[in-house]
Amino acid sequence: MNTNAAIVLFLLVISGLIWAGMHSNDPNWTGNANQCVGECYENWKAENGGSIADIERSKQAALAAASPEALGEKYYGQCIACHGGNGEGGIGPKLQGQAAADIAMKLTAYRNGEERGAQSAMMWPVAKPMADTDIDNLAAYLSSL
Ligand code: HEC
Repeated sequence: MNTNAAIVLFLLVISGLIWAGMHSNDPNWTGNANQCVGECYENWKAENGGSIADIERSKQAALAAASPEALGEKYYGQCIACHGGNGEGGIGPKLQGQAAADIAMKLTAYRNGEERGAQSAMMWPVAKPMADTDIDNLAAYLSSL
């Protein structure tokens, strides 16, 4: 096959694909525009316990009503890899059995970038984003273990 024939064949195939594409459009296809409005949205709300805003509001209310311990337990999820599922220790020291005030004091020290043990550098980035309430919640949870 010479080059010209190859080009002509190529153009024919491409034109054919374009033609086929343009003549097989489904008029009912809504694409990625997820159109759940009107009745569809009312049904969704009935199934899911309210609008998206309602659901978010009740989540926030549940969170606000949660005890410090429960919130601390939630936060502790990111500590398990190093301190164990029950604070039994691992890469990091055992946290089980420590008083809330001690935990809070230690976390505050790490948050301030203070050196406590030889591996404090592992705790600095962990403690840095903690708010006072996070520290209190974690202390409440850990002292309950
Ligand atoms: C990457 C591993 C790692 C993660 C994740 C981690 N820690 Fe630690 N943690 C350590 C290490 C290592 C030490 C010891 C640091 C030192 O030498 O001062 C430590 C020390 C501590 C101490 C002081 C313990 C003591 O008795 O001296 C507390 C409290 C603590 N971590 C709480 C937490 C909490 C709460 C989280 C989760 C928000 C967490 N850690 C996440 C590794 C980790």
